[in-house]
Amino acid sequence: MIANDAEKFKKVISHAKEYGFIFQSSEIYDGLSAVYDYASYGVLLKNNIKEYWWKAMVQMHENIVGLDTAILMHPTTWKASGHVDAFNDPLIDNKDSKKRYRADNLIEDYLTKQEDKINKEIEKAKKRFADFDEEMFRTTNARVLEIAEKKNVVYSRYVKALNDNNLEELKQIIIDCEIADPEAGSRNWTDVRQFNLMFSTKLGAVSDEADTIYLRPETAQGIFVNFLNVQKTTRQKIPFGIAQIGKAFRNEIVARQFIFRMREFEQMEMQFFVRPGEELNYYDHWKTTRMKWHLALGTDEKMLKFHDHDKVAHYANAAVDIEFNFPFGFKELEGIHSRTNFDLTQHSEFSGKKMQYFDSEINESYVPYVVETSIGCDRMFLAMLCNAYDEEIVNEDTRTVLRLPVVLAPIKVAVFPLLKKDGLPEKALEVFNELKFYHQCYYEEKDAIGKRYRRQDAIGTPYCITIDHQTLTDNTVTIRERDSMQQERINIENVLKIVSDKVDMNKILKTLA
Ligand code: GAP
Repeated sequence: MIANDAEKFKKVISHAKEYGFIFQSSEIYDGLSAVYDYASYGVLLKNNIKEYWWKAMVQMHENIVGLDTAILMHPTTWKASGHVDAFNDPLIDNKDSKKRYRADNLIEDYLTKQEDKINKEIEKAKKRFADFDEEMFRTTNARVLEIAEKKNVVYSRYVKALNDNNLEELKQIIIDCEIADPEAGSRNWTDVRQFNLMFSTKLGAVSDEADTIYLRPETAQGIFVNFLNVQKTTRQKIPFGIAQIGKAFRNEIVARQFIFRMREFEQMEMQFFVRPGEELNYYDHWKTTRMKWHLALGTDEKMLKFHDHDKVAHYANAAVDIEFNFPFGFKELEGIHSRTNFDLTQHSEFSGKKMQYFDSEINESYVPYVVETSIGCDRMFLAMLCNAYDEEIVNEDTRTVLRLPVVLAPIKVAVFPLLKKDGLPEKALEVFNELKFYHQCYYEEKDAIGKRYRRQDAIGTPYCITIDHQTLTDNTVTIRERDSMQQERINIENVLKIVSDKVDMNKILKTLA
């Protein structure tokens, strides 16, 4: 059984490999750090996540259109967007362990630990006092007050240091808080330095400065530079959005936590263009809409929360993350940013082309403001995998089951003949061959039926159809449900309708409308 979150995470990682969800890239060469391949079931799950996002964002909004822009863009794009000068992380090295860390992450982890200490005190007190009042305890208990005060001081210094870009102060906080290398325990740190996260490469055969181009670190810029092209060709009027799904690349300093922080990953981004002055209303609207999208999958609301940014990016006037409770704590899953008119204005200046919109309703031209929603597809994948992974004892045996939302499950229905004889495989194949036009199915006749069920549980298949001897006499089959393991007999003619009804994504999409 799962002892704690750390053990759960280890299990999720090995399960992902063993059951064909994720492989380390170039594994036979000992892998490439923070780069992963999606395996046979992984690619199906990932495609389902993309489909759910695309339908909710593009298909269901008459004022949002799609786009698929190139990974390579003119290098001036990244000068204009600020990424060449400001897309940096503050890094620090430990002189003893030679390990490299993000200074901001070290401080944030320290702050989280202080909060954990407070929560532990609260838990202890809850057990001691029957009529426990948490608010009262927080404001009167000496130990809690001491930790909270220290934490608040560090937090204020940290936010100021980030906003002032004060690298010496970041190091000083690490020293003052006696933060040690999380793996080696040493406190022997270098100075904090800025590190640009963009991967560069050369365009063409001649390698001089002018040919340096970048792998895009976000998909958003492909949307900005195409804003007028899309607006004109789709005849959209403000407010309207442009959405795209695509690869992004970042040379992350700390590449830990499996697919949480990758060097090559996929984003699902939408830029919503609005009238100046209306951006904060739309910002609130998209916060609510995006949280609804997550909750509609059945995720417990305790697993998700908003987290306002301590320091907004150079382009934003408001920013919030939707955080998910991963086994290593609440971390960013999606960002919602009010990006002002920064990007379009910058591209206008650097390209010399006007990025203005004529608003016929108010008879005015302006550079639109932008509210962005940006979610990492891989992070969503990891969130769903961690949320779904479960172990339980069934008949004195451990059953490992992925309780994935049905609409995201890689395989929707598995079809089994009970035995590999007596005409059962032929009948089962008839069922499979009908279902396969509508759903991702799986057919298997090897091994005992119990083993086959377990394999499907482990990859999250919500329904298994079994053809047995009774099928041959009365045309009924059993349908087994993954979570309850309950089986029901249904008529073979109703299989397609019943399965289609159960796995229908539109039912969830309708709750979002
Ligand atoms: N266009 C805005 C933007 O890129 P971001 O907060 O840097 O904002 C958006 O990234 C989302 O992309 C994050 O919420 C996260 O889900 C995902 N993401 C960012 N860096 C990632 C990485 N190294 N590996 C996996 N996903 C990442």
